[in-house]
Amino acid sequence: MIGRHYVVTGGSSGLGKSILDILLQKQVYVTALVRDVNKLKPLQLKYGSSHLTLIQCDLQSTTQITELTNHFKGQTIDGIIYSSGLGYFKSIDQHTIEEMHETYMLNVISFNTLLTTLTPYLNRMPTIVGIGSQSAFLTQASAAHYGASKAAFNQILNALRIEKPNYHVLTVNTGPIATPFHEKADPSLTYANKYKKIMLNSDKLAQRIIKGIITQKDEINAPRWMHYLLRIYQLAPRFLEKHFTFLFNNKS
Ligand SMILES: NC(=O)c1ccc[n+]([C@@H]2O[C@H](COP(=O)([O-])OP(=O)(O)OC[C@H]3O[C@@H](n4cnc5c(N)ncnc54)[C@H](OP(=O)(O)O)[C@@H]3O)[C@@H](O)[C@H]2O)c1
Repeated sequence: MIGRHYVVTGGSSGLGKSILDILLQKQVYVTALVRDVNKLKPLQLKYGSSHLTLIQCDLQSTTQITELTNHFKGQTIDGIIYSSGLGYFKSIDQHTIEEMHETYMLNVISFNTLLTTLTPYLNRMPTIVGIGSQSAFLTQASAAHYGASKAAFNQILNALRIEKPNYHVLTVNTGPIATPFHEKADPSLTYANKYKKIMLNSDKLAQRIIKGIITQKDEINAPRWMHYLLRIYQLAPRFLEKHFTFLFNNKS
C-alpha cells in the first residue's frame, strides 16, 4: 500500500482512527475528512502534512461534500474508507425527526454523495471499504433506524461490487467494538457495559481490514460466531422473534 492515496472518513475516533494509524505507518498518503481537524493535528504533526491531509467536512452537509471536488483537482484517489457512522439506541417513537435524518444521512446518503463526488478522481481499480454492522442482519428493538441504515448501506456496497467489476469493494460487518460510538448511541452506557466482554478491539479489527484490502476480500464478518448465529436466525426469523423476544430487545 506504500505510496497509495486513500480518503478516510471517521478517522478522528474509534475504528477509523485505528485504520488511519495503520495506513500512516504503511506510508499511505491519507486525506482525512473530519468535522474537527484539531482532533487529528497531533497525528499530522507526527507523520507530516504531505502524508496526512486534513479537510474539514461535516458529512451531514451535502454542500460540504460536493464542494470537496475543489480539493481533489489533479489528484488520483486509490481508495475510500468510509468509517463514519452513528446510531441511536432508542425505540422508533423515541427518535426525534432530526436523529432519524442524521442516521440515514451519515450511514447511507452521505456515503453515496461522497462516492459520486470523488468518482472522477478514482483510479481505474479503486478500493472502496464500507464499515457496516451485524445489525444489518438482525431485527432489533431500540435500534431499528441504525439497523435499517446499515442494511441499506450493505445493499449499496453489494450492488456497487456488481455494477463496477473493476472496483474492489470490501464490506465490514462488525459486531460491537469498544469505541466512543456507544457514548452517543446510549449515553447511559447500559448496552456497552452489558456487552463489554464481547466487544472487539478496534486496533485488531483495523489490522484485519488492512489485510482484507491487501488480499482483496469482499467481506469481513466479525466476530465469526455472531455471523454464524445470525445465519441460523435467518432460517426462521419471525418464529425466533416471536418466541425468544428477549434476544431482540437487548438494546432497550
Ligand atoms: N462501535 C460499535 O460497536 C460498532 C458496531 C458496529 C458497527 N459500527 C460502525 O463502525 C463505524 C465506526 O464507528 P466507531 O465505533 O469507530 O464510532 P466512533 O468512535 O463514534 O467514530 C465515529 C466517527 O464518525 C465521525 N462522524 C460522525 N458524524 C460525522 C459527521 N457529521 N461528519 C464527519 N464525520 C462524522 C466521528 O467524528 P467526530 O470525531 O467528529 O465525532 C468519528 O470519527 C461506524 O460506521 C459504526 O456504525 C460500530
